Amino acid sequence: MINCSSSFAHEHLLHRLHAIQQQYRHIPPHAMQQTASEFNVPLSQVAAVVAFYSFFSTQPRGRFDILFSNCTSCGYLTGERNLLQMFCQQLQVTPGKTRADGLVSIDETSCIGMCDQGASLLINGVPVTGLNAAKLTQIAQLIIDEIPLQQWPGAWFDIPDTIHRRDLLLTEHLIPGTALQRAFQYGVSETLAIIQQSGLRGRGGAGFDTGKKWQLCRAAPGKARYVVCNADEGEPGTFKDRLLLREYASALFEGMALCAFVIGAQKGFVYLRGEYRYLLPHLQTTLERRHDQGLLGNDILGQPGFDFDIDIVVGAGAYICGEESALIESLEGKPGIPRIRPPFPVTHGYLGQPTVVNNVETFIAAAHIAARGSAWFKTAGTPSSAGSKILSISGDCEKSGIYEYPFGVTVQQVLDDCGATDVQAVQTGGPAGTLLSPAEFGRAIAFDDAATGGSFLVFGQQRDLLAIHRNFAHFFAHESCGFCTPCRVGTQLLKNALNNIAEGRGAAADIDELQHLSRIVQHQSHCGLGHTAANHVLDGLRKFPQVFSLHLRPHFTARFDLDQALASARQITHRDDAGAHLDNER
Ligand SMILES: Cc1cc2nc3c(=O)[nH]c(=O)nc-3n(C[C@H](O)[C@H](O)[C@H](O)COP(=O)(O)O)c2cc1C
Ligand code: SF4
Repeated sequence: MINCSSSFAHEHLLHRLHAIQQQYRHIPPHAMQQTASEFNVPLSQVAAVVAFYSFFSTQPRGRFDILFSNCTSCGYLTGERNLLQMFCQQLQVTPGKTRADGLVSIDETSCIGMCDQGASLLINGVPVTGLNAAKLTQIAQLIIDEIPLQQWPGAWFDIPDTIHRRDLLLTEHLIPGTALQRAFQYGVSETLAIIQQSGLRGRGGAGFDTGKKWQLCRAAPGKARYVVCNADEGEPGTFKDRLLLREYASALFEGMALCAFVIGAQKGFVYLRGEYRYLLPHLQTTLERRHDQGLLGNDILGQPGFDFDIDIVVGAGAYICGEESALIESLEGKPGIPRIRPPFPVTHGYLGQPTVVNNVETFIAAAHIAARGSAWFKTAGTPSSAGSKILSISGDCEKSGIYEYPFGVTVQQVLDDCGATDVQAVQTGGPAGTLLSPAEFGRAIAFDDAATGGSFLVFGQQRDLLAIHRNFAHFFAHESCGFCTPCRVGTQLLKNALNNIAEGRGAAADIDELQHLSRIVQHQSHCGLGHTAANHVLDGLRKFPQVFSLHLRPHFTARFDLDQALASARQITHRDDAGAHLDNER
């Protein structure tokens, strides 16, 4: 049975706003006022938060509020646009609008992390996957009949696991407490040394040395220290953390407690992306169980003075909140705008105090390392990349899903295993990552080669790569937080330029313009989103130039009708004779 109204702990501003949005289907002015006084923050802060996060709205949304994922993988490749249009027609609603009677609203959203499950949507925050025309027709009828979600077929809300390959971390479940027991035996310094010797590097994308991060945090002066798990997983094509949170949550909490023991923290947070809100009851139950087992709370496992607890904070639909400093801003109840760095979170993180932010997979790996030793971990992987990597594989392959490999596996091996043939290109690391041509399929998945935070998208020969670039560009333009001009404007211009080329209005000069723009966005943006937003364009121009050149016109063509644009000037001057029009032939 579906749990449609996940109960939030109300003490966090985001949770209060989630509850208000759920109750009124929008955030009315009086509720903003009330929230501001309840949380003792300025009204402007609450208004800024509501405006920032896409899951909050100041205009009423429908009683059935539907968001189609327009992710490259579970959206574009599955024909999401056609399904969306058909569904809107059935329910007589315009995309992006709420129907006049308030029954339903339908819109698009960025990747919801269901790329192994086919076309997907969120309905009142709950995912429904495996969409096709027949299923959507059934859903439309249930909505027209106003049948509550609790009475919809329960199987629709089951998200099956799709683990196809297990290695170091997924083969055996960690027995709760084993990593902590080991850590208590060794003591703090030795435990930290084991993590350092293992060569563990962050699994969230950047690959920073985990032991070093913990050491820096431990050494930083501060009144308190914090452990934060980044479960924001918003990179289109990535869904491995969804599975880890569902199946391996206890090991995650063990890894966080281990980190707390090493750095001397008493408080931890899991920042759970809003799209995974449906996992909240399961995560809370797991936390409660660990409390009952003496693995959280005071004097953990009888270790005097080792007190540690974890809260889960649910995000509200903003990809940028995966960036660690934006995430911390969000944890503090603010819009998720990345901070100026340095200082880094390890010294000035949550509430200005030393904070470790690690990915879900990183904490799970750390727990296993503490329990089994650094030598065990290093039996897999390469010198630069110890251990294993969990990949989220989707796109044009027979068996999309989760695959855990030792680092060093070749791209070709992965393609063979997932049943991908006649492959035109692979995108590792999501839209921000690397576009690989077949000549590169011998490259290895590793930090110093084909790196990935987890996403592995396969594009068959039948795909129009320019359309994929447009989808990526749309994603970045939509998700740019708007704080700095190179990214805010640059991502829009990149999107427009790709649209122009695809729609047959591009000339050779547009390719130079694309290169130039991409370099500006890459080098002059404030944070990692901007730094990587143009990677796919530069990769595409270099490795697949024909994808762009095929669409180009031999001569420059105006991108808009200048004569039409001057219509208002003619109106003001009361002139509409032939001389007041531009001669289009000149
Ligand atoms: C735009 C952007 C989005 C990011 N999203 C995530 C994310 O969803 N999950 C994650 O673990 N790291 C994400 N990161 C990386 C984090 O900033 C940070 O490096 C990471 O959480 C550190 O954990 P790790 O060392 O265990 O990888 C993102 C970075 C950027 C620039
Ligand atoms: S680079 Fe983009 S996402 Fe990052 S701060 Fe600037 S506008 Fe925001």
